[in-house]
Amino acid sequence: ASPARDRLRIAIQKSGRLAEPARSLLAACGLSWRQSRDKLFCYGESLPVDLLLVRDDDIPGLIADGVCDLGIVGRNELDEQAAERRRNGMPDAYQSLRGLGFGQCRLMLAVPEEWEWRGVEQLAGLRIATSYPAILADWLERQGVDAQVVELSGSVEIAPRLGTADLICDLVSSGATLAANQLKPVETLLESEAVLAGAVREPNDMRAGLLAMLLKRVDGVLHQRD
Ligand code: PRP
Ligand code: ZN
Ligand code: MG
Repeated sequence: ASPARDRLRIAIQKSGRLAEPARSLLAACGLSWRQSRDKLFCYGESLPVDLLLVRDDDIPGLIADGVCDLGIVGRNELDEQAAERRRNGMPDAYQSLRGLGFGQCRLMLAVPEEWEWRGVEQLAGLRIATSYPAILADWLERQGVDAQVVELSGSVEIAPRLGTADLICDLVSSGATLAANQLKPVETLLESEAVLAGAVREPNDMRAGLLAMLLKRVDGVLHQRD
């Protein structure tokens, strides 16, 4: 359990596709910040709600460790780290509190364009490159297919051409990256969007009221955007 605190701390992506929409959503909720010089920690002025600007991959862990109370992160990243925890026998540490309606993408299997796709049985014995090894391993188990998961932290799309994997499992948004690498999407593992994530256990100090108020404001903003 983390020590009592009287300010909320929200982790958002420092740069990348969720960074700007995450900030605007929080600003629309009435939050404003005094920029610190390194800009990685933004002190909340209008309300006791501070921002931490980090890599999206670090957000689930920051919530799990109680360093941050909330985070705005892709469901893909949250689910991957939750699946990894479960596969390692660790308890659930965070939950998705709200879908935020931006950052939509899909986690998909994609194969070389010239392949004829006949279904998941075709995956048996093949190597699949991905940055989402836990989600992929769970999915393969559910499908009852024995394929090899090749974990790569980035540039997954190039693996088939390099010969380090036969196909990939990666995020698809516009589809431009797949097309540029002569790959085509064939199966969807997960529909993702940005979510507001929080700890499984809610704070029992001053932060509880702040959290409730913020959720109400988020709901108001999302409702207006509908
Ligand atoms: C994702 C994914 C692809 C790209 C697909 O990467 O890994 O590279 O987006 O988008 P598209 O379908 O619009 O071309 P992301 O931007 O999340 O960055 P990362 O892979 O560096 O984390
Ligand atoms: Zn990332
Ligand atoms: Mg990428």
